[in-house]
Amino acid sequence: MNEMVLSNARLVLADEIVSGHVRIRDGRILEIGTGAVPAGAQDCAADYLLPGLVELHTDHVEGHLIPRPKVRWNPLAAVLAHDAQIAASGITTVFDSLRVWPDKKAVGMDGDAPVLAGAIAQARAAGALRAEHLLHLRCELSTDTVSEDAEALMDAHEVRLVSLMDHTPGQRQFVSIDQFRAYYMKKSSISAEEMDIIVESRLDAHARFAAANRTRLVAAAHARGVVLASHDDATDAHVSEAISDGVAIAEFPTTQEAARLSHDAGIRVLMGAPNLVRGGSHTGNVSAQSLAQEGLLDILSSDYVPSSLLWAAFDLPRRESGISLPQAVRMVTKTPAGAASLHDRGEIAPGLRADLVRVALAGDIPVVRGVWREGTRVA
Ligand SMILES: [Fe+2]
Repeated sequence: MNEMVLSNARLVLADEIVSGHVRIRDGRILEIGTGAVPAGAQDCAADYLLPGLVELHTDHVEGHLIPRPKVRWNPLAAVLAHDAQIAASGITTVFDSLRVWPDKKAVGMDGDAPVLAGAIAQARAAGALRAEHLLHLRCELSTDTVSEDAEALMDAHEVRLVSLMDHTPGQRQFVSIDQFRAYYMKKSSISAEEMDIIVESRLDAHARFAAANRTRLVAAAHARGVVLASHDDATDAHVSEAISDGVAIAEFPTTQEAARLSHDAGIRVLMGAPNLVRGGSHTGNVSAQSLAQEGLLDILSSDYVPSSLLWAAFDLPRRESGISLPQAVRMVTKTPAGAASLHDRGEIAPGLRADLVRVALAGDIPVVRGVWREGTRVA
């Protein structure tokens, strides 16, 4: 029997903050106590103790695989560096969002999903990972082989989440073609003439592939019990399609209308934590904070900056007086866990996994002082 007590902590429970201790046995939370401190307890010095964060959508690992435009890092070393940063950010469950985006001609969109999935599996098998890593396939529907590529990955690995994406210019994330051109021309050094060709080929690919790939991938996910997410929904029609496809999570809806329709239909609305702490979307769409104000924000995701997740959980109650710290913490723990069908974590409650984060504050910025995954210290 392996037992540990973390005492003198401000425990962020699902609906309230309680000062007390947590007793952990064999990787699970055994009890929450507010009375006398048990002998041998570790003193948390009145720091906050949160459930380990659950991250559903991050492409952060890609930056470690390709740290400079023409530099390719060892995939296993990349995964380990990514994992260290994830765990040190208080994230104990991470869905690594791998691009299934097979388009050699499209700028910045060609992925390494099989390489990274293999490296994650290798690291897991070696017992080398601090956080639990699960797979999320980001499937770009307007590409020719996305369905077969995604199905091959689902057959080779335990994929838990599939998101249905379509970044064709003139819709969803890029409401106008000009917005698409400006975004990618700023991001990479391509000329206006090259961009004409890219836009034309993307529109053509959308017409040829998107509808059939969506049907096929929805069926493939349902057949394997994989959770589905829609992406960048903007219109009533997008949300209706998501509802009929059995989508559980709406990633980054780009309009308030789409967020409201999704939320009201029981689809969990996910927005970027960087969007929240920066005070707006980097592509100019609806802000996470405005959705929070309207009660439409369910889940936050660190997206491209791991430490933004914990920061956003502490920042949101400061920005919005109607939102408590436990409510904001639920957006990065219990709600994403539930949306991804992980019912054994996401809350400090007896019987659940002892995934925990000890947090102090340096000014307004949270500082991670300890991370435990299933009772084992990992950061
Ligand atoms: Fe997007």
